[in-house]
Amino acid sequence: MSEHQRLGILLSGRGSNFLAIADAIASGKLAGAKIVVVISNKADAPGLAAARELDLNAVAIEACGRKRAEHDAEIIACLRKHEVDLICLAGYMRLLSQEFIATFPQRILNIHPSLLPAFPGLDAQQQAFDYGVKVAGCTVHFVDEQLDHGVIVLQKTVPVLDGDDAHTLAARILEQEHIAYSEAIERVLSGKFRILGRRYLPQN
Ligand code: GAR
Repeated sequence: MSEHQRLGILLSGRGSNFLAIADAIASGKLAGAKIVVVISNKADAPGLAAARELDLNAVAIEACGRKRAEHDAEIIACLRKHEVDLICLAGYMRLLSQEFIATFPQRILNIHPSLLPAFPGLDAQQQAFDYGVKVAGCTVHFVDEQLDHGVIVLQKTVPVLDGDDAHTLAARILEQEHIAYSEAIERVLSGKFRILGRRYLPQN
């Protein structure tokens, strides 16, 4: 990668996945990438404050009471203004409109704290724990029109231990999320892959 590829991060909360990506860039593990904007639908998201502390462009675009299309149009404009190459949803807890997805085909990634297609939606770790699975994990996938559904780039697994509760399990999954997201971003930015049906296939 000669020039930096430009990442836009969307988040709604804590921002630990965003910070893991920022760390990977700072430590040279994701040296070809640069975070050019961090956008949140919540002005008080801790992740947005963390972005400001890192001197990154941090933009709040509040959703409150607005139609999805109108809110998304503002986010699209902001991402375009910053000439983003890849959008990373990092705990962005709002569905994207069809128009948003169509504007950035195969350019939006999401991380989800379960082994999809199991346990889509909210509280995935609690869902997995309550179901009694013995293996849990996380998924990085392209975003399509359906919730937690697009083509899977990679997954990481963790064991569910007998002494776990949903919180200890979530913490174990989160550790893997922090590793998985940067790996997936690197793979996608390399462009060395093709998609066959639902299958993401690396290419040399
Ligand atoms: C992460 O566990 C992420 O996988 C999950 O929200 C958390 C955000 O944490 N995302 C979803 O559930 C999306 N369906 P973070 O703000 O510390 O990155």
